[in-house]
Amino acid sequence: MTDRYAVIGNPIEQSKSPLIHTAFAQVTGQDIEYTKVLGPLGGFAQAVDAFRAAGGRGMNVTAPFKLDAFAYATDLAPSAQMAGAVNAMKFEGERVYAENFDGVGLVRDVVHNLVYPIAGKRVLVLGAGGATRGALLPMLAQLPAELVIVNRTVAKAEELAALGRQHQSGQVPVQGLGYDQLADRGFDMVFNASSSSLTAELPPIRASVFAAGALAYDLTYGKGLTPFLKLAQEAGVTHLADGVGMLAEQAAEAFLWWRGVRPDTKDVIRQLTVPLV
Ligand code: ATR
Repeated sequence: MTDRYAVIGNPIEQSKSPLIHTAFAQVTGQDIEYTKVLGPLGGFAQAVDAFRAAGGRGMNVTAPFKLDAFAYATDLAPSAQMAGAVNAMKFEGERVYAENFDGVGLVRDVVHNLVYPIAGKRVLVLGAGGATRGALLPMLAQLPAELVIVNRTVAKAEELAALGRQHQSGQVPVQGLGYDQLADRGFDMVFNASSSSLTAELPPIRASVFAAGALAYDLTYGKGLTPFLKLAQEAGVTHLADGVGMLAEQAAEAFLWWRGVRPDTKDVIRQLTVPLV
């Protein structure tokens, strides 16, 4: 019998998850069906209940339901606990296992696909919202030389930095700063984990944040050359990336978790890549 999976969100039309998981199923020979569910606002639990009652085995969760899924789950993985949000669920009888693969997907894209080791690098993360929270521990696990989180609301950057320090035994210095405290420090990797690219805004950074040979990575997907990537390009940065690989890798992690087999992401990334122009 074909196993059923779906992504739930509102809106949901834009989701690439059905395309990605259907491609994964094809190349791995897995007999699954993967659809989109438009969750009614305020009706997340009922929509998931109905999907489970109809035999659904697992779901991805996208905006605005990642916190609803956190509340709905019976068993939260450390990644979900740490992120405070859920992006994948697995249903087994009464149990609802929940994960958040965004952070590990990002790190896998950077280290494995872009072949840009994080170990020993000076890393700057812009933004201190959900995306940064999810990426924090997977990044620290790579043992960068240092991790600086910078945010307009400084208290949120400080809070996440403290969380990062708590979860490791002091190997990696972690700092939370305001943009005006960055001075002229250069970094080997700069991640835009703020939501600035969704509104085509530029976080208040200067070109000097990019050290020679730096990687500029915008976690947003499909927006082409965002103001952040444009600034990096104008600063002479040649390693530019958006979140297409992160999107594919978080999906691959979910697929592995559900089906026990890790799909290769190359074809999906090629298919979904929007040129950075
Ligand atoms: P997400 O879950 O996508 O991370 P979020 O939790 O709402 O979304 O967080 C958005 C982050 O982007 C915040 O850190 C926000 O900064 P503030 O906390 O100071 O509001 C940041 N952000 C949004 N627009 C930005 C902009 N134009 N420049 C810099 N940072 C921005």
